[in-house]
Amino acid sequence: MFPIVRMRRLRSSKVMRDLVAEIHINPSQLIMPLFVKEELVGREPIEAMPGQYRFSLNEIVNETKELLELGIKSILLFGIPIHKDEYATSDYDPQGIVQKTIRKLRQEFSNELIIIADVCTCEYTSHGHCGIVKRLEKRPHAGELYVDNDETLKVLAKVALSYAEAGVDIVAPSAMMDGQVKAIREALDDAGFKDVAIMSYSAKHASVLYGPFREAAKSAPQFGDRRSYQMDPRNAKEALREIELDIKEGADIVMVKPALWYLDIIKTAKEQFNVPIAAYNVSGEYTMIKLAALNNLINEKIAVWEALTSIKRAGADIIITYFAKDYARWVKNGEVP
Ligand code: PBG
Ligand code: ZN
Repeated sequence: MFPIVRMRRLRSSKVMRDLVAEIHINPSQLIMPLFVKEELVGREPIEAMPGQYRFSLNEIVNETKELLELGIKSILLFGIPIHKDEYATSDYDPQGIVQKTIRKLRQEFSNELIIIADVCTCEYTSHGHCGIVKRLEKRPHAGELYVDNDETLKVLAKVALSYAEAGVDIVAPSAMMDGQVKAIREALDDAGFKDVAIMSYSAKHASVLYGPFREAAKSAPQFGDRRSYQMDPRNAKEALREIELDIKEGADIVMVKPALWYLDIIKTAKEQFNVPIAAYNVSGEYTMIKLAALNNLINEKIAVWEALTSIKRAGADIIITYFAKDYARWVKNGEVP
């Protein structure tokens, strides 16, 4: 009989466990999503996401300063405009809330901060869809409302360009329109913004887990749902195809979204592609842990540590998470393993 193998040897102390740990989560690879609301004063709590806020233009500067002090160096901006219409005109207004925020943050913090801005129309359209809505003219579904892919591409390109003009580092198209990366890359290049990067929401599934975000950003669709443009949760091969296409179109970073119920896709993407993989630990994932913790049913710090660890272990290089700020503080204070 062969002797007992002493696996426990390397688990004997914290220092020993840290020595042999296969992965470490570094705050420099966490991205904090932030909501900025036009004409708000100060900050207001987001009901569906306890612990998260909508910020004013001034307040977001203070928040970003705190993030940088904690070692969170990348933020993902979402705007909540006053004006919405059918064509998302406030989305590419040079005086729009996100454009103003980018300019202000760029002025305050030079290259120590990575400013990323989400590119989509759902916060800016009266109907809440991620594109321009039209009535189908062709049979067999004449008369039905649908999101027009190619009309939307023109809008997304304009939005990305306006963010680039304001000083953004990375644009993040999330509309799930076909060809959105190509359209944006061409628009940026034509205008001379060759160094603005694209992080594409490549494999974005139509998920129930975006519910709290839509309350936060006031971006829920007013009719129908997003299943004609976001991916079916049942499909993994299709997700890889989306990623492959986005890389071909010029994406610098590709994203899988949501994260925790889609770890299989993160893992395969990491194995198959040679670009950085981002994973979005979305609002519903945040709120589930938060509510369990607020009810004293789970240890929040350990739950977040284990969740982020799982996302990293699956293969994500970058994690977008509403826990970024708290997690960085816990690391600083030695409150997570
Ligand atoms: C906008 C967008 C959404 C999210 C990121 N960008 C919502 C949606 O598609 O309805 C979701 C993020 C989250 O749930 O945290 N298209
Ligand atoms: Zn959208």
